[in-house]
Amino acid sequence: MYREVAQELLSFIKSSPTPFHAVWNISGILEKEGYERLKEGSAWNIRPGGRYYVTRNGSSILAFKTGTQMENYSFHITASHSDSPTFKLKENAQMDVKGKYTVLDTEGYGGMLCSTWLDRPLSLAGRVIVKEGNGLASRLLNIDRDLLMIPSLAIHMNREVNEKQSLNKQKDMLPLYSGRKMDADALKNLVADELEVEAEQIYGTDLYLYNRAEPSIWGADDEFISSPRLDDLECAYASLRGFLRGENSETVSVYACFDNEEVGSQTKQGAASTFLCDVLTRINAALGKTPEDLSRALASSFMLSCDNAHAVHPNYPEKTDVCNCVYMNEGIVVKSHAGQKYTSDAVSIALFKMICEKAGVPVQFFANRSDMNGGSTLGNIAMSQVSVNTVDIGLAQLAMHSSFETAGVKDAAYLIRAVETFYKSHICEKDAGVYEIEDGCTGK
Ligand code: CO
Repeated sequence: MYREVAQELLSFIKSSPTPFHAVWNISGILEKEGYERLKEGSAWNIRPGGRYYVTRNGSSILAFKTGTQMENYSFHITASHSDSPTFKLKENAQMDVKGKYTVLDTEGYGGMLCSTWLDRPLSLAGRVIVKEGNGLASRLLNIDRDLLMIPSLAIHMNREVNEKQSLNKQKDMLPLYSGRKMDADALKNLVADELEVEAEQIYGTDLYLYNRAEPSIWGADDEFISSPRLDDLECAYASLRGFLRGENSETVSVYACFDNEEVGSQTKQGAASTFLCDVLTRINAALGKTPEDLSRALASSFMLSCDNAHAVHPNYPEKTDVCNCVYMNEGIVVKSHAGQKYTSDAVSIALFKMICEKAGVPVQFFANRSDMNGGSTLGNIAMSQVSVNTVDIGLAQLAMHSSFETAGVKDAAYLIRAVETFYKSHICEKDAGVYEIEDGCTGK
């Protein structure tokens, strides 16, 4: 059962080389399930019991379904991110080397492990803005073949490489594209051919490198999965599957997947943007509710901020906390941080533990070593726009921000079950500090 889920997850990730593709694929899954597309620029007509989704920039997406008993409603939200560290092509990308090579000029997107991008087949994907008549249209591009490579420098030319390696993004990380000097617009022509348009029609591009490596299930007992972009497409996919299965009549179930987490979320479509707040406000208004109703709904709402976590590394067990360390295939990770880089607190952790108990899903706890700064994630960033009870969770993985990451074969299935139970539950604060989790009725 979990192996099947892992396989579906890996094929979703393989077909999602960039956030634009991930959001496109998520939209397709939602459409198949009967979700209706809303546009931010049009009026919204929302029915109780309806299912909708809306995208921003083609790289962030919010889906929601409204219950049928909306008198004292609240929101149940999951949030994950659609982007992963990579390299972005610059506008003028072709560089000639001695008239014998063409390499591409790129810059880093997010905090990648550079060495993991060396010596493996890469290609290009992203979005292209194409002039059509008097207008512009956004098209997805995925050059689905081995196209580029970033070759290492031989050890004979850098004898100290195994003792100290430093990789400069402008010097060491430029991908080789051709064994000849190419025409100035060769790359543009390649993109145009791929999209079956004329090169003059291409007005804008957001193109990124991606690792061509085939995802794999492996290990003595097939207990591991490896793939590009597990952080955070593993959570994005699992929370989507859970969202599709779970609902209850007294809440608005919201699925959120944001772009730009890896570069700080401060974009028009990132977790720090108004996107979530705008959509929740519009849902409230479209249901015929007042601004006060929205404040009341938010006061009793709950969010799961889902982003992957560091499993204990077999070669560096000392790098994780002594008592709060986590392992792959041992369930959902709850993350805490005294400085509140993670949103979890006693209340949100307790509520989530009860949900996982109901779901029959194991939970484990993560904290950074006290002498080490860990990463941050989107939960506490989203809080500045929409402030609700939130717990930071994720799935344990190794090699975070590598171009090929490793996780547990069972954990996506655990998250699906927990998220399904979360959306099926009705959480309410009966009195100050007194919470109740009920089986929400589905109203069907
Ligand atoms: Co992440």
